[in-house]
Amino acid sequence: MKINVSKKSASITPSGIREFFDLVLGMEDIISLGIGEPDFVTPWNICEAGIYALEKGYTSYTSNQGLLSFRKTIAQYLKKKYNLGYHPEKEILITVGTSEAYDLAIRALINPSDEVLIPEPSYVSYYSVTQLAGGKPKYLSTHETGFKVTPKMLQEAISNKTKILLLNYPSNPTGITYTVNELKNIAKIVKANNLIVISDEIYGDLTYDFQHTPFASISGMQSHTVYINGFSKAYAMTGWRVGYACGPENVIDAMNRIHQYTMLCAPIMSQMAAQEALINGDNACLEMKKEYKRRREYVISRLGEMGFTFPYPAGAFYIFASVKNTGLTGKEFSCRLLKEKKVAVVPGVAFGTEFKNKYYIRVCYTTEFEKLKKALNKIEQFLKEL
Ligand SMILES: Cc1ncc(COP(=O)(O)O)c(C=O)c1O
Repeated sequence: MKINVSKKSASITPSGIREFFDLVLGMEDIISLGIGEPDFVTPWNICEAGIYALEKGYTSYTSNQGLLSFRKTIAQYLKKKYNLGYHPEKEILITVGTSEAYDLAIRALINPSDEVLIPEPSYVSYYSVTQLAGGKPKYLSTHETGFKVTPKMLQEAISNKTKILLLNYPSNPTGITYTVNELKNIAKIVKANNLIVISDEIYGDLTYDFQHTPFASISGMQSHTVYINGFSKAYAMTGWRVGYACGPENVIDAMNRIHQYTMLCAPIMSQMAAQEALINGDNACLEMKKEYKRRREYVISRLGEMGFTFPYPAGAFYIFASVKNTGLTGKEFSCRLLKEKKVAVVPGVAFGTEFKNKYYIRVCYTTEFEKLKKALNKIEQFLKEL
């Protein structure tokens, strides 16, 4: 008998990134500038905190909200770094990655057909997770405004069904981020229209040229914002699966009520390791950031020399480049580059349907410097042979 899966799950399309990388899996000697995962191993003091947790027998559930001492550490960290005040007992929830934090926030806030505005291009999960929650994702096209949400575009997109604006900065896939003034201008529209912002700031600590500003720290915005963050990127902890959400008490409570019947809690040893990351992880984090910055400068200059254009990647570890000068769409470029030169980049269409016949690719520089050089040499050779 063939089991029929639900209509909802059948309607979800596979992630464009995974689809492309299924092709890569069967091939040998590929240099991947594809998957957005740090090439560093988790810093040793953080690993040790996880090992210590196991050695001491910390193998149980925690409270649904997460270890209170960890929530207190997060509260102290946000206060010290951004002057953002959250009550550790009522306004912070530990989640299984930033991914779960987004899922919970959407499910806790959305009624059927409520609209969620999502800048396009965007990280692959937002659209489908919103659909799964019964919401209506609505893309905000940003490729003509430097890949940034503008107050005008926002105002024009808002209808009486609009409830949430998703922000993600520094952005996956473009690396763009916002200045304080740009955030203030967005905040005015958010306030005037009573919107809620889910702000995914997982790359906040990977902002290279100036200090990151959380949306919740903009005057009047804390009560409008669910701030979500995690440890996967800046601390190279993708496999530990820890994130957190901070927001108004009633929203965190609603999120926790869903979380308690689904995930129950994040793994205790991962929570303890992530707590160590916040207490003693700054130096390792800065070292990795320094190396990403060095790579960013190199990739910017090489891609620029090849005639590609891209928004200035102020953070994260991605460059969203237009390969229009080659005459190939992003998908054609990525497929041919993979086949002919064994270098993997992600076609822009993975980050929004608008990019289907457009000329963008995402280049990720989470690859060690020498390999990165080799990959860029191969791209240059590929262009010469076109
Ligand atoms: C913007 C963004 N948010 C969330 C995630 C997932 O993070 P986590 O590993 O904390 O679930 C990613 C991973 O690529 C991402 O790029």
